[in-house]
Amino acid sequence: MEVVIVPDAKAGGELIAEAMAALVRRKPDALLGVATGSTPLPIYEALAAKVRAGQVDASRARICQLDEYVGLPAGHPESYRAVVLREVVEPLGLSEASFMGPDGSAEDIVGACEAYDRALAEAGGVDLQLLGIGTDGHIGFNEPCSSLASRTRIKTLTEQTRVDNARFFDNDLDQVPHHVITQGIGTILDARHLVLLATGEGKAEAVAQTVEGPLSALVPASALQLHRHATVVVDEAAASKLKLADYFRHTYADKPSWQGL
Ligand code: F6R
Repeated sequence: MEVVIVPDAKAGGELIAEAMAALVRRKPDALLGVATGSTPLPIYEALAAKVRAGQVDASRARICQLDEYVGLPAGHPESYRAVVLREVVEPLGLSEASFMGPDGSAEDIVGACEAYDRALAEAGGVDLQLLGIGTDGHIGFNEPCSSLASRTRIKTLTEQTRVDNARFFDNDLDQVPHHVITQGIGTILDARHLVLLATGEGKAEAVAQTVEGPLSALVPASALQLHRHATVVVDEAAASKLKLADYFRHTYADKPSWQGL
């Protein structure tokens, strides 16, 4: 696992956007897996700026979603489909046809989950999967004690995650769905490169457990330890509980070989 410590969220966003741009230059139709939530927004802003500046042609890139709420009405502004269209697909100038995600309003949720795993495989697999991390160590919405081999499926959100996400629903906990479809940990591990961004002190404990703790279903993000190419980008605040922070600074900060540049 490569741990890259950056000064702040903006620097993290810029670094990861450049890695994505480099991938798209090498492979114009790359399948980019995106996450939602607040953390990746600086990545999307930086990548869209590169597209506008003509530094990368992303017109053939494909985008896929990590997870989706179950039961929100179609077109709800906080459905992750709507969020990804708004924050990623439109700013990159892509069409809706270049975008795939699980159907959270399907009548047959189990079938929709299986169909999504199949669709990802048929699309050739995810080239680079962006991840955020929950304060409880979740990736996607694989909450603590998720199977490390899990595939895309329906999950129940913990109370902590619903409280964390209430800010997207007028701070009204009652509006936050209880269920989601999420790529499983096994599905996430199928991606060729995993890039997790964590910023802010609130993520410091989860980051320390992910990077330096034992591999454990209690901390789903620790499954990144099993991946052959996982990169964790953290700002100083999120790095504040890492025992090996100095080692990581010396080893990775000035050597962005992981960016494929
Ligand atoms: C959402 C997702 C979640 C978030 C995590 C952190 O698609 O995959 O794992 O990344 O809940 O959310 P923020 O970035 O809002 O703190």
